[in-house]
Amino acid sequence: MKSFLSSTLSLLVILGAVGVCTADANLAIISPPDRSVVESRLISIVVRQGSTAIDDLTLTVNKRKPLLRKKSPDRSVICSSGIALTPGENRIRVVGRKGGKDVTTRDIKVFYSTELAGLSPPADFGSYAFHSDRHDEPCRPCHRMDFKGTDDSPRTPADSLCYTCHRSIITTYRFAHGPSAVWSCTACHTLRAKEGEGSSLKGDETSCTICHEDSINLWKSMKHQHGPTAAGKCITCHNPHASDQANFLRLETVDLCASCHEEILSRPHVVSTRLGGHPLHISPDPFKPTKDFTCASCHNPHAGESPVFLTNYKSTMTGLSDFCRTCHLF
Ligand code: HEC
Ligand code: HEC
Ligand code: HEC
Ligand code: HEC
Ligand code: HEC
Ligand code: HEC
Ligand code: HEC
Ligand code: HEC
Repeated sequence: MKSFLSSTLSLLVILGAVGVCTADANLAIISPPDRSVVESRLISIVVRQGSTAIDDLTLTVNKRKPLLRKKSPDRSVICSSGIALTPGENRIRVVGRKGGKDVTTRDIKVFYSTELAGLSPPADFGSYAFHSDRHDEPCRPCHRMDFKGTDDSPRTPADSLCYTCHRSIITTYRFAHGPSAVWSCTACHTLRAKEGEGSSLKGDETSCTICHEDSINLWKSMKHQHGPTAAGKCITCHNPHASDQANFLRLETVDLCASCHEEILSRPHVVSTRLGGHPLHISPDPFKPTKDFTCASCHNPHAGESPVFLTNYKSTMTGLSDFCRTCHLF
């Protein structure tokens, strides 16, 4: 009786395993899930090849040129990092190939959400936190996914536990921010247990204070604060990791400001001359040749002594023309 039960059980186990195999027989995109909302411009795509015999696959984002990925002979999955998205909805197509012919196709949609683009995802898209028990489970056989108590200062970037999967968020850009440049990722990302979510590696928006306390205190001491800075939303304008813009700005200064103050570009600003308004962007700045002349040449993006946070504005100034004279001779 006992042996019958155990053999029935093992038969069930085998059947169960077969059941799983059948369901998995086809090519599947295991990360990211279809219709998920991501906050990274650069994501990873992980494909399980199933039992479908393929030689390689192509990965296509929107209408871009397809990327070719070779299959590893000893691996059931094909992992790719640094896949760039466009703000808003992106279509991702994976095509498995055999002997140069397309044999199987998978399509998913992901939504890249960024505050500055001001787009919201369609209702049938769901938010996605990869670093949670629910999503990182399939990676555990091959990748270390538990980062509790790990070293915050790796000797080389490759020693960081984040490097394999996230190197492109640093290496793709011209300038990398202090702690990110040395892969001290856990200075701002710590594992936090959240109800029903297992562990989370979400970035801490308030972490800027730890290292930039002096600047933040200086801005707080000024008479007028700029909306997003006062709200502590530093990462709306600054990428905490890296960027192609100086000061790790998410967009070039004029585009950054215009993403919230569009109207400034639509009418003459400051002065109204035959030629229009005051110049808003000159590269390089005729007065400071190492920088560009932009909105930030006149407005401090954080705070100031005047209601519009004019740079170098002193409360002793008797009118706007004193401010103009910080650059002009008239
Ligand atoms: C069967 C083993 C296996 C599984 C399962 C697996 N990976 Fe990988 N993955 C690897 C190996 C091996 C590498 C190469 C390691 C390296 O480059 O250091 C790799 C590399 C990567 C890379 C870097 C790819 C690149 O372009 O350099 C990413 C990103 C990645 N894996 C993510 C994942 C995620 C996310 C999961 C789970 C959804 C996962 N992997 C599941 C074995 C696996
Ligand atoms: C095995 C690959 C892998 C490793 C190792 C890894 N990540 Fe991720 N991480 C991902 C994937 C996949 C996503 C989903 C978005 C994407 O594709 O980039 C992600 C997303 C994130 C997010 C966005 C929030 C979330 O949970 O989706 C943060 C923050 C993050 N990773 C931080 C880290 C840090 C910090 C480390 C090192 C301590 C690390 N990751 C190590 C694969 C990895
Ligand atoms: C100065 C603090 C800080 C450091 C250092 C830092 N991060 Fe982040 N990170 C954040 C914040 C804050 C967010 C949330 C930003 C957002 O919502 O766009 C974030 C978001 C992310 C995301 C998801 C969204 C995105 O912007 O791509 C990933 C992945 C990530 N971090 C990985 C890393 C890795 C890997 C490192 C180490 C090289 C690192 N972070 C270092 C603060 C930091
Ligand atoms: C662990 C310490 C640390 C944290 C946390 C930190 N920073 Fe930094 N930050 C630095 C260092 C060091 C530099 C100077 C080196 C450099 O320019 O990369 C720097 C430079 C900068 C600069 C360029 C200014 C300059 O003088 O070059 C900006 C902008 C900046 N950080 C913004 C932020 C924001 C926004 C946050 C929060 C998301 C943040 N930092 C969190 C250490 C930190
Ligand atoms: C509205 C967009 C915006 C917000 C929000 C913002 N910054 Fe900035 N930040 C900028 C711009 C633009 C510059 C470059 C100014 C220039 O070109 O002179 C800058 C420069 C900096 C610098 C280097 C120069 C300096 O003045 O010290 C640091 C450090 C910095 N920001 C940190 C922060 C921190 C910390 C926060 C949150 C408290 C924050 N920023 C919020 C846009 C912003
Ligand atoms: C994320 C959105 C956002 C970005 C980006 C942004 N601002 Fe603002 N700005 C605001 C908000 C919110 C206010 C406060 C509400 C208001 O008065 O319009 C504000 C107020 C201002 C004011 C005062 C307006 C007044 O009528 O008193 C000035 C000047 C200003 N911003 C300049 C800039 C400059 C220059 C930049 C680029 C460095 C910039 N802003 C980027 C959201 C933004
Ligand atoms: C030459 C210096 C200068 C430049 C460059 C400049 N501003 Fe201004 N801005 C001012 C002055 C001065 C005022 C106040 C005008 C007044 O009080 O009549 C002002 C007012 C503002 C205001 C509030 C009043 C309004 O007109 O809505 C906003 C918002 C603003 N600027 C945003 C910007 C943005 C965004 C840029 C870049 C695209 C920019 N400024 C470039 C000098 C400048
Ligand atoms: C931060 C420096 C700075 C401040 C402050 C400043 N300007 Fe200018 N202004 C410039 C630059 C740079 C130019 C372009 C000069 C050139 O191309 O040689 C310019 C050009 C001009 C022009 C010529 C416009 C054209 O199209 O050629 C006028 C008029 C002008 N500014 C008026 C003002 C007035 C009025 C104020 C005060 C409200 C002011 N500026 C404040 C830097 C500044």
